[in-house]
Amino acid sequence: MVQALIRKSACVADLKKRAKRRIPKFAFDYIEGGCNSELALSNNRTALDDIFLRPEYLQKYQTPELGTTLFGKQYASPFGIAPLGLSGLVWPDASAMHARAALKANIPFVLSTVSTISIEDAAKNAEDNFWFQLYPPADEEILDDMLKRLLDVGCQNLVVTVDVPTPSRRISAIKSGLAVPPKITVKSVFESTIRPFWSLATVRAGLPQFATLRPYIKDAKNIEDIATFIRVTLRDVVDESSLRNLRDKWQGNLIVKGISHVDDALTVKEIGADGIIVSNHGGRQLDASLPPAETLEEIIDAVGADLTVMADSGVETGVDIARYLALGAEAVFAGRAFLYGVAAHGEQGAEHTIDLLRDELEQVMSQVHCAKPELMHQYLE
Ligand SMILES: Cc1cc2nc3c(=O)[nH]c(=O)nc-3n(C[C@H](O)[C@H](O)[C@H](O)COP(=O)(O)O)c2cc1C
Repeated sequence: MVQALIRKSACVADLKKRAKRRIPKFAFDYIEGGCNSELALSNNRTALDDIFLRPEYLQKYQTPELGTTLFGKQYASPFGIAPLGLSGLVWPDASAMHARAALKANIPFVLSTVSTISIEDAAKNAEDNFWFQLYPPADEEILDDMLKRLLDVGCQNLVVTVDVPTPSRRISAIKSGLAVPPKITVKSVFESTIRPFWSLATVRAGLPQFATLRPYIKDAKNIEDIATFIRVTLRDVVDESSLRNLRDKWQGNLIVKGISHVDDALTVKEIGADGIIVSNHGGRQLDASLPPAETLEEIIDAVGADLTVMADSGVETGVDIARYLALGAEAVFAGRAFLYGVAAHGEQGAEHTIDLLRDELEQVMSQVHCAKPELMHQYLE
């Protein structure tokens, strides 16, 4: 079976091609799109392509060991599944599939606040591989309740996203008419009927719901009410004082996602958070942003001794993961790759994406004679 999957999809690019054939255009655009002119998206690719690794073939060879420790827990690989909002639009139950695959492969799984499965379901499926990404609600009571729910299910790692102070402009989404909540239009019905696997799965599961947020909208009659709630209540800009507030309330590990400036990283360190994810949201928020591959090293120089520094944006292969590790990241996250995986092959696709990235990373580490992820920086050109 694994061989059959590999023949169909031998790399993430194959998963992407297959995903495009299996899901409606509006759903594919939702995954693939960057913001505005999609320069940040292509600059992420160019910046990663500019990172070269230099092998030392005559150094002692050791079989690479991919395991890594993050916040006191041992993981099997130095990469994880980034938070992906509204993933149920791509494939019903995509987040549950990711959660189960992450548990099986022992890698981190980060559930988005606007995911289509709940905190409780994610914890059931991912167990202690479950991390939670927070868009902090303005309402303190809701915030406190969400933190309590996380505590109740034993979640240790809270990832606060700071790089969405405003909704972005994604031209492909505007053109394809994708709205939150998804609206049923003639165009979307047409795009769906020519994608029968997706349509059948979606009809069976029903339109995606924002499961984690549902309890807070007392009088919600439909998904539109929830979308209004998200626009009004969740759009709280995260600044230094809101991070301090979270630090006071949350005793577990606090990780700040979306850092691209040394000064922000220093602020995160100063308030006593535990880690950062250097990221430009996969090129989905600020088209003129610097690629993380260009900012990571200076940020690590400034705070690497005090914070766990991780990175994401633009990961399409295990080689890209090796590149971020070589720049000094302690772990790397991928987003789109995992959505392509489930869109292409359902639950098996979630596992297959992990296997592909892991095999590719292992091959690169073997090739350069690198024994452990934390030694990858020795091979940076
Ligand atoms: C479809 C989609 C939905 C996303 N939703 C969220 C989200 O809800 N919260 C968040 O912090 N980041 C979100 N992101 C950003 C990812 O967590 C991650 O930063 C980005 O995808 C990394 O880039 P890559 O897709 O090139 O790997 C989303 C990304 C995609 C592609």
